[in-house]
Amino acid sequence: MQDFQYKNGSLYCENVSLSRIAEKVGTPFFVYSHQALRQQLRAYHEAFSDVPHLVAFAMKANANIAVLKLFSNEGGGADIVSAGELHRALVAGIDPQKLVFAGVGKTKREMAAALKAGILMFNIESSQELTALDETAKELGLKAPVALRVNPNVDPKTHPYISTGLKKSKFGIEITRAVSEYQLAAKLLNIDVVGIHSHIGSQLTEVQPFVDALALVSELIEVLRAKNFNILHWDIGGGLGITYDKENPPLPNELAKAILPLLKKSGCHIILEPGRSLTANAGALVTQVIYSKESDVKNFIVVDAGMNDLPRPSLYQAYHAMLPLVENHRPEKVVDVVGPICESGDFLAQDRALPQLLPGECLAVMSAGAYAFTMSSNYNARSRPPEILVHGDLFDVIRERETMEDLLRGEKIPDFLLR
Ligand code: LLP
Repeated sequence: MQDFQYKNGSLYCENVSLSRIAEKVGTPFFVYSHQALRQQLRAYHEAFSDVPHLVAFAMKANANIAVLKLFSNEGGGADIVSAGELHRALVAGIDPQKLVFAGVGKTKREMAAALKAGILMFNIESSQELTALDETAKELGLKAPVALRVNPNVDPKTHPYISTGLKKSKFGIEITRAVSEYQLAAKLLNIDVVGIHSHIGSQLTEVQPFVDALALVSELIEVLRAKNFNILHWDIGGGLGITYDKENPPLPNELAKAILPLLKKSGCHIILEPGRSLTANAGALVTQVIYSKESDVKNFIVVDAGMNDLPRPSLYQAYHAMLPLVENHRPEKVVDVVGPICESGDFLAQDRALPQLLPGECLAVMSAGAYAFTMSSNYNARSRPPEILVHGDLFDVIRERETMEDLLRGEKIPDFLLR
């Protein structure tokens, strides 16, 4: 997180003090470092420079079009999972030939949009989905480039909600059934088999599950090639973890070192789908203290951001580090940092030791560049915060704070209620 640092007692993102942004745009807000984002993407490019590759950013982590444009300028593509993400990626100017489309529930309407856009590859997760794609492509007079997502049944050793590569998960096709699914694909006239895909989970902090899963996929590639399937693209998924607290996950070059021999041997064009590791630690959520209160058993700090802005703590008991915007050396207290939402699950931190904070002072909730804004909601009719991109000593609002009009957009009171 070296792009968020204290200088003379004030927390900076690159060369901009976060207090300065707070004064200009108010709180809460999300802030991202251009330099950190670019650096993370470059780390992947360097790590995998020995193989032809594409870094298809899993944009569910951060879908702001400015972030997508930044990655696209650096040669990146995107892993999309909906028509909405396709639209965003195209608006940001990402080359459709750098888009891969994942997800267990793609509708025919979404498939049609992606076919018309001319994306690189659909990652298909079931035989019904394969048939639906074949029908959609036929209606459009097109051929659909396809990889099958295989489920290697490897334990990624991460939170159960974000673990996807086990047999019991809804994702992918069991690796033992893969050959017969490929044979089905080969029979479909509007399907063009071009690759293979796997993704076993998120926030992985060890290399071994990647190695185990990819070794199984590598064997499968050989079996498929022996049966004359054309496996040009090998999409190895995403999942590399980050440091939220004390985790010590591998860096992209450490992952590369462990798996490059397998990847090289395949001769494939390699696709990577990192999300969190590209953006999480390039971002923070800045929030202001409204009140503090004490009970016999707890101390609370009530802030102006809540679970609607950053649901990860409530949803996954996730830890996000917190830094006061102005360094303070007051004694520490163990507190729950809670939002204004009317639910007990509305917390950003529990039992956290923080220096005493007064109303009006601000905190940065760290590692909020991934699965933060994209998972935010309007619960309690709260406007979603603006997003800010810092570049050196400049900053730009890359998404405005939602207005009251935004909150009502599309709603109406029907005539029969007005009579
Ligand atoms: N590829 C596929 C097919 C995925 O499903 C995902 C994430 C990724 C790539 C990117 O994984 P990453 O590199 O970000 O680990 N909301 C959760 C994370 C959900 C991940 C879903 N899939 C969280 O906040 O922790």
